[in-house]
Amino acid sequence: MPATIVVGAQWGDEGKGKIANLLAQEADVVVRFQGGNNAGHTIVIGEQRFALSLIPSGVIYPNVVPVIGNGCVVDPAVLLAEMDTLRKRGIDPGNLRLSANAHLIMPYHRKLDAVRERFLGHQRIGTTKRGIGPAYQDKFSRLGIRAQDLYDPKIFRDKVEMGLKEKNRILTKVFNQLAMDAGQIVEEYLGYGARLLPHVTDTSLLVWEAIRAGKNVVFEGAQGTLLDIDHGTYPFVTSSNPVAGGALTGAGVGPRDIDRVLGIAKAYISRVGSGPFPTELSDEVGEQMVQIGGEFGTVTGRRRRCGWLDTVALRYAVRVNGITELALTKLDVLSAFPTLRLGVAYSSLGERYDEFPRQQRVLYNCTPIYEDLPGWNTDITEVRRLEDLPKAARAYLERVEQLAGAPITIVSVGPERSATFLRQ
Ligand code: IMP
Repeated sequence: MPATIVVGAQWGDEGKGKIANLLAQEADVVVRFQGGNNAGHTIVIGEQRFALSLIPSGVIYPNVVPVIGNGCVVDPAVLLAEMDTLRKRGIDPGNLRLSANAHLIMPYHRKLDAVRERFLGHQRIGTTKRGIGPAYQDKFSRLGIRAQDLYDPKIFRDKVEMGLKEKNRILTKVFNQLAMDAGQIVEEYLGYGARLLPHVTDTSLLVWEAIRAGKNVVFEGAQGTLLDIDHGTYPFVTSSNPVAGGALTGAGVGPRDIDRVLGIAKAYISRVGSGPFPTELSDEVGEQMVQIGGEFGTVTGRRRRCGWLDTVALRYAVRVNGITELALTKLDVLSAFPTLRLGVAYSSLGERYDEFPRQQRVLYNCTPIYEDLPGWNTDITEVRRLEDLPKAARAYLERVEQLAGAPITIVSVGPERSATFLRQ
């Protein structure tokens, strides 16, 4: 039985939720390994639409154990609200397991995220303001508060008080904000703790036992490779490791337990928030991609920036994740364009770059070198088999494979689960 890591090969919003959901149908355990409620995946099943931000998409299947791993940062109020929403829709999240080592997003993290962004002005990152960065900052400063701390009220209170001593100084003296009250936060969070208690466990052990028992485990990444804190377009990135390596540390498994790494990419590319974006289109074509592709954030509703598929970035994603196969989503959106362009290299500061540039100065000055391919000028949303795709669409897939250096094994042509098919 395979253990599969599902990663975003672009700047997030590649349709990971949908593909992870597809894999989850056959899975026993689905694990989120990084990020928090900055992510958002919409899952469409028949008439039902689900927007989940924290709970892995596998929760909708009763046979799946959904896991939130130690690498995640968890806003307990959001988690509980998501569980309530699921219950109202007739889905029991009772199976959900939360790592005792996952860090908690505290109210001061959200506050700091928002005021820091304001402080940065036009240099802001464009974060989701969910407190993600400050929560990871505390984790790495060893000032973080973990899920397990909720079960030792004295330790919890001490940690909140100690953390707030510093945070309140920053909030009041640097950012001119009101101080926050430790007592109120402690009371609120211990209430959440009581409700979450049945779900908190050693999830690394749970995953290890599942793999040992030959079960099918899916690791579901959030965000994407180019938003990775180490491998993305720093500083315009998120504060965790969405790359495949992050699944190992963020779930507590070893590399030898992984069988395949599935990279998800859209047939074009998008990003939300600030930062360099070589193939971005600020013209009518970009606007058409936004409108046809419905490119507005699941979490924040923000309009996504769109552009032609960047195969330099995709090849880079294949490399840093060790992607063994690719899923290409939203191929149907490209039906609108008579000619399609693939970014195959960059030109920057008088030089050609075939590989993703290491230096930010180079990346900021990149203009893409394109290869043009004919479009297919026909609706493909009803296609369910590779053979039924127009020849030009199959040629597009083949060229992307060649340039990316990994086979495309899954193609999706519409939002419904049935609009995704396998390609051998
Ligand atoms: P943060 O993760 O909220 O700190 O935001 C950092 C950057 O990552 C911003 O540019 C966000 O727009 C981006 N980001 C965070 N989560 C997602 C996501 O799920 N999809 C796309 N972009 C994201």
